[in-house]
Amino acid sequence: MKSPNTLTIRRPDDWHVHLRDGIILNTITAHTARCFQRAIIMPNLVPPVTTRALAMQYRKRIAESLPDDSNFTPLMTCYLTDETDPQEIQLGFNEGIFAAVKFYPAGATTNSASGVSSVSKISGVLEVMQDLGMPLLVHGEVTDIDIDIFDREEIYIDRVLIPMLSDFPALKVVFEHITTSQAVDYVRSQGSRLGATITAHHLLIERNDMFKGGIRPHLYCLPVAKRHAHRQALLEAATSGDNSFFLGTDSAPHSIVEKESACGCAGIFSAPAAVELYAHAFDQVNSLDKLEAFASLNGPAFYGLPANKETITLVRKDWMVPLSFQVDEAVEILPFMAGETLRWRVLP
Ligand code: DOR
Ligand code: ZN
Repeated sequence: MKSPNTLTIRRPDDWHVHLRDGIILNTITAHTARCFQRAIIMPNLVPPVTTRALAMQYRKRIAESLPDDSNFTPLMTCYLTDETDPQEIQLGFNEGIFAAVKFYPAGATTNSASGVSSVSKISGVLEVMQDLGMPLLVHGEVTDIDIDIFDREEIYIDRVLIPMLSDFPALKVVFEHITTSQAVDYVRSQGSRLGATITAHHLLIERNDMFKGGIRPHLYCLPVAKRHAHRQALLEAATSGDNSFFLGTDSAPHSIVEKESACGCAGIFSAPAAVELYAHAFDQVNSLDKLEAFASLNGPAFYGLPANKETITLVRKDWMVPLSFQVDEAVEILPFMAGETLRWRVLP
């Protein structure tokens, strides 16, 4: 059957995005606000967003970075450390400052050095969150140096997630940016208390793409892209309609200088074409009819929020992803699929 040339869906939300700070924040927030109504804002700034006061200040800077006519809502998260005070989390949730808490294993990724060293250190926080029904967002990778980078997510399930979910049976958890069939299977087995975000880039690239004709630093992110069968499992999950799976771009800008380096940073900047990239992936498997559930309905349902009332319309129209974005004279950022043609475009 020929697929239609327009698609109208409820306005989507991004359940995982890095907006950064300072000059980068001021330049990039508009990309996320273009199509998304709300977004879960990652707290891995320098210094990290660990308190209500820091989150309120950051939320204000985000608001100031938005175009005047925007009604985009940032949903703030608290960066969990071994020292986080459970009362700070409770107050932050009850006062509407924190929507969720982010659990980075110490050393797992960008600015995660002050993350959690062991689940045993945060049991007081997890008890409070379980009582509040407040979501815990996990970067699901073990950090042990003897574990192969491609196995870090699978091993995280056995070593961290299964024991934690068993010790805190009512805790709501989001397994962020999943990349493996093992994660898909595990999320499916846990019912409504465990959700998962899936990025557009993990639906579109596999590990071979990082080495196509040479090393491609702009395709390096964490968790690193896995082999073909895993991408197939992610596509199948995202387009299945299963409400455990929802949109989270993990759009994570770094300057070209930081990416094209002897030790390049992890992160893919997908915000400028986020919804279009998901449409591209869903279209490739003839599942555009499943985009609305994944992008606009499943996430709010998990977070206990209403779906957005407004809609957006995508049209089938070839367009080229811009080659780069200039932040200032010194900083330039390359978007995911820069210079490539996408087949769907969100109407302004
Ligand atoms: O690729 C990534 N980049 N993965 C993360 O977990 C963090 C992010 C960043 O902040 O750059
Ligand atoms: Zn992230």
